[in-house]
Amino acid sequence: MKPRVIVTGAAGLIGRYCVTSASRWAPDWDVQGLSRADLDLTDRAATEQTWRHLTPNAVIHCAALSRTKDCEQNPQLARRINVDATAYLAGLSKDIPFIFLSSGEVFDGQQGWYRERDAPNPINFYGKTKLEAERLVLQNPRHTVVRIVLTAGTSQNGDRSFVEDMCRAAKSGKSVTLYADEYRCPLPAGVIARAILELSNKNVPGLHHLGGRERLSRWEIGQALLPWYPELQGCLVKGCARDHTGALRPADLSLNCEKIQARLSFPIPGFRSWLKDRVHRGVDLWDYEPARL
Ligand SMILES: NC(=O)c1ccc[n+]([C@@H]2O[C@H](COP(=O)([O-])OP(=O)(O)OC[C@H]3O[C@@H](n4cnc5c(N)ncnc54)[C@H](OP(=O)(O)O)[C@@H]3O)[C@@H](O)[C@H]2O)c1
Repeated sequence: MKPRVIVTGAAGLIGRYCVTSASRWAPDWDVQGLSRADLDLTDRAATEQTWRHLTPNAVIHCAALSRTKDCEQNPQLARRINVDATAYLAGLSKDIPFIFLSSGEVFDGQQGWYRERDAPNPINFYGKTKLEAERLVLQNPRHTVVRIVLTAGTSQNGDRSFVEDMCRAAKSGKSVTLYADEYRCPLPAGVIARAILELSNKNVPGLHHLGGRERLSRWEIGQALLPWYPELQGCLVKGCARDHTGALRPADLSLNCEKIQARLSFPIPGFRSWLKDRVHRGVDLWDYEPARL
């Protein structure tokens, strides 16, 4: 019998890619996706029952309240899902590998190109919950935390990735303001899924950063996407982070990924080189086709 890995958040952006690409990147595993419809992770009794029923050999924990705005608006719910449910699931998984997806939002964004040893300093509630959960997870030396940043791709209902958000706004006639002084290192969800599945295969504990090779401003990211999304033409507005209202956003969340790169069988791409490669080979924008990146 194949060893079994549970993927939580399976109807979400990254969880779905983990499940759908598992036969390619983790063919020796029996990968079971759990969506919120299958199991509400804030229900401890149901979580324990499901966990015991499935008896996993590893867990990839993608479920979260993942939007900064939702966390600010509903901090209690954010804590229950992002911290309490994570800690409970990690506790059930104390004797097996457990991979928790965290976020670059644990940093304040003043420095950029963050390494794993750099001191976190979250400036919004989402980042605070992620940091708190990380610390609980990493109390177990068998467990893994992977911090990621802005993720591109397509989701089940077309409402998860930043690319989908931009296109939805454009289609409803709204402009999309992109800050020219806010930096991220985006990656396609398919690349993140491949890396996570490889890590679970190799059982690599500890803290890891996973972001794209290229540091781009939000404005540059929008410009790079224009050739593929003509509907964005004329809708993108260049903005300045100082004009932002709402939850605080770190200015620069580029991540140094040397540590994780040394563990992976493939080079982590930069966002623009990823897009360019799609054109060369005429493959779907967000489908993961192994390439010479
Ligand atoms: N995408 C990014 O840019 C990004 C960046 C940094 C870090 N991350 C982290 O990476 C992980 C995956 O992100 P993602 O983009 O795939 O997020 P996502 O699309 O929001 O998926 C998260 C999933 O968790 C589910 N969920 C929420 N509460 C739950 C509960 N109580 N019980 C069971 N499931 C629950 C959601 O269900 P519903 O569909 O019903 O809401 C959703 O399907 C998250 O930990 C996120 O914080 C993501």
